[in-house]
Amino acid sequence: MSSAEIPAPYGTGVNPPAQRPASSSPSPARIRTHHLQSAKNEGRRFAMLTAYDQYAAQIFDEAGTEVLLVGDSAANNVLGHETTLPITLDEMIMFSRAVSRGTRRALVVADLPFGSYEVSPAQGVESSVRLMKEGLVHAVKMEGGSHYAETVRAITTAGIPVMAHVGFTPQSEHSLGGYRVQGRGNTGQQVIDDAVALAGAGAFCVLMEMVPSEVAAAVDRAIDVPTIGIGAGGSTTGQVLVWQDMAGLRSGKQARFVKQFADVRSVLADAAKLYGDEVRGGTFPGPEHSF
Ligand code: KIV
Repeated sequence: MSSAEIPAPYGTGVNPPAQRPASSSPSPARIRTHHLQSAKNEGRRFAMLTAYDQYAAQIFDEAGTEVLLVGDSAANNVLGHETTLPITLDEMIMFSRAVSRGTRRALVVADLPFGSYEVSPAQGVESSVRLMKEGLVHAVKMEGGSHYAETVRAITTAGIPVMAHVGFTPQSEHSLGGYRVQGRGNTGQQVIDDAVALAGAGAFCVLMEMVPSEVAAAVDRAIDVPTIGIGAGGSTTGQVLVWQDMAGLRSGKQARFVKQFADVRSVLADAAKLYGDEVRGGTFPGPEHSF
């Protein structure tokens, strides 16, 4: 394998078939930041999904998802908070450990949660070190624009890869006035300037959330490192979705940028109804489930 190629998914080439238990088969090669850079250089795309627990992480890892994000969206999608703001660094470390233990191939990235890096570059380094050392992740993600360039430089100088997150940044939703597209009209240049400053400070990748497609395309042209989009059109190197949105676990109105690829909510509801019916009807457990 040349350094340019993204390591093959499970079940192809030298890698183990997907149906073999993760623990008993040889490990596939780990995806590294340089593989994502090669993808951009060679015009290939890659996929990123959020994951917050070992089973989701293992399923997506075996399905070939190149990057798993332990997003601070665990606040809304796991812990039941209304926003991402309340989640703590300790909680992020717990989710990160579970996801890291569940993967063998994917690059695992964890969010620096609100309050864990804003005070100073040193605070950002300390929090990132904890995510790497205790959360066992391979990189951190940080929301914010060019004003965080010094923090990105300090974290990368400590040997920790940083994914920058610009455009709509959910941790700032109260100052941004809610969930709104960023970079429309003459504010588009600010998104481009932010991305250029953060890539220049050492970010290995820039994620853009809810920005007009043409602004995302301009960012992708303006920086050499790979870009990832969520609600940023189709010209970025990678795409990311929250897994519960992608798989249809969450009910209610979806954001325009979400595409639902399955109806896991119905599958689970049907299974729970069937289980309840069999318990109430006395057909479960049967003799084959009894000792
Ligand atoms: O926390 C998260 O899930 C994210 C994605 C929306 C990119 O930051």
